[in-house]
Amino acid sequence: MALKERLRGLKSLAGPFAPFDATATPDDPRGLFETWLCDAIDGGIPEAHAMTLSTVDEQGYPDARVLILKNVDADGWHFASTKLSPKGRQIAAQPRAALTFYWQPLGRQVRLRGPVIEMSREICEADFLARPIGSRAGALLARQSDVLVSDAALDAGLAEQRRRIEADPSTVSPTWAVYAVKPNEVEFWQADEERRHARLRYRQENHGGWTSERLWP
Ligand SMILES: Cc1cc2nc3c(=O)[nH]c(=O)nc-3n(C[C@H](O)[C@H](O)[C@H](O)COP(=O)(O)O)c2cc1C
Repeated sequence: MALKERLRGLKSLAGPFAPFDATATPDDPRGLFETWLCDAIDGGIPEAHAMTLSTVDEQGYPDARVLILKNVDADGWHFASTKLSPKGRQIAAQPRAALTFYWQPLGRQVRLRGPVIEMSREICEADFLARPIGSRAGALLARQSDVLVSDAALDAGLAEQRRRIEADPSTVSPTWAVYAVKPNEVEFWQADEERRHARLRYRQENHGGWTSERLWP
């Protein structure tokens, strides 16, 4: 069968889904996000904390990749990476990003957009030290997305950083960063089997409060 036919034969948004009452929601999107995230975690959805981070490069081209959500607090939605990676460099040049979550069994998507801030050195270092030794070794190498010429080069690089950590377990990478996206727009999207999807978009006002409005599906 041709790929086009195979794709046409696949189901999407088949449900059944719990209805979402977009008229009875909190004033602040953070609370609703935490409810939806916890629904996904409690529902056993694998990697419920995986999200797509979209940034733009210096030519204005969008770039996107999946990352792990580390926290949500008053500073925003947190993720961690090396500053020397393409995403780190893109954020340094253009500190704005979008995050997208999709929890397929629930038929739910959340989209956020806003400025990105780098958290304090204290937070970055604490995050680094909480990582398993293999992840710390990789982060110390700080070669993410560089061209890899051989497995031997990777193995040797990791082994060298591992020895460094074993010799001094307090070693931290100066280029490891925790970032937070502080959204000024958050959209909640709940699928409906009859395609009457429910959408609610929050937008931040100049005074810091939020307004919300429903969107056509
Ligand atoms: C489920 C999943 C989780 C990931 N988590 C992270 C993460 O937390 N931090 C990170 O730097 N890369 C993570 N990655 C790898 C990124 O998707 C990406 O390959 C890497 O960060 C390089 O991106 P860049 O070249 O745009 O900087 C994850 C990938 C997947 C599939």
